[in-house]
Amino acid sequence: MSTSSQTILVTGANKGIGLEICRQLARLDHRVILSARSSERGQKAVADLAREGLKVEFLQLDLADESSIQAAANDLKKRFKALNVLINNAAILETWGGTILDVTAAELRDTFITNTLGPILLTQALLPLLKAGRPARVINLSSQLGSIQNMTDGWASYGISKAALNAATRKLAGALAPHGISVNAASPGWVRTEMGGESAPLTVEKGAKNIVRLVTDVPHTLTNHYLEENGEIPW
Ligand SMILES: NC(=O)c1ccc[n+]([C@@H]2O[C@H](COP(=O)([O-])OP(=O)(O)OC[C@H]3O[C@@H](n4cnc5c(N)ncnc54)[C@H](OP(=O)(O)O)[C@@H]3O)[C@@H](O)[C@H]2O)c1
Repeated sequence: MSTSSQTILVTGANKGIGLEICRQLARLDHRVILSARSSERGQKAVADLAREGLKVEFLQLDLADESSIQAAANDLKKRFKALNVLINNAAILETWGGTILDVTAAELRDTFITNTLGPILLTQALLPLLKAGRPARVINLSSQLGSIQNMTDGWASYGISKAALNAATRKLAGALAPHGISVNAASPGWVRTEMGGESAPLTVEKGAKNIVRLVTDVPHTLTNHYLEENGEIPW
């Protein structure tokens, strides 16, 4: 492990962009903690990476469950002295992309709990570890669909949850700046994963690279931004 190696937690990392972020960061010799809500799926992802010669560590973490967030934070505190980067990647997308007039209470609630509340509570719970790892970063996986300026009518609960995550990003950026912790929202682009679907133009490798560059290429001092590959997205 090199001296520039950072300790990095990625949520929802048993598949899709999260798994590929872990793969790319492990190749760069960072100490990667791959978390997943299912121990079985998460351990399988860890084993798959091990077969590629990449060592990552596993953490069970369900973002929709407050007690799981607390248990995971306690587990991490026992296993690690500090955390340099938290990548809030886990999210859900409702199965039907209807408008605000059709969205159900259950969809709104479930999507908000996983996509917005989870990252806020996890950041709070990991604050002692992030403070110990400063200059530290929190990267919230957002989406073009979360831009209030560009808000369209489809995927209502997802768009609302990501707009609220953007708002949380700004509040966290303000609150954590005095502690040497930057907080940014970032879109990976439209990526071919289970969530993005087969028509998406970007490979999972490219989508993950768009997030990994925020760890490797962006200064620690950059905070309170909403970024994509080619610059800024309007909030
Ligand atoms: N793909 C795109 O085009 C695109 C575009 C813009 C933004 N994004 C964002 O990029 C991130 C990754 O998306 P993706 O395309 O890789 O999605 P994905 O393939 O559907 O993967 C989502 C991951 O999140 C996990 N997850 C869902 N609910 C969870 C919970 N309660 N606790 C812990 N993990 C949970 C899933 O675990 P299970 O396997 O257990 O379900 C899975 O590992 C998301 O934040 C998404 O909003 C994606």
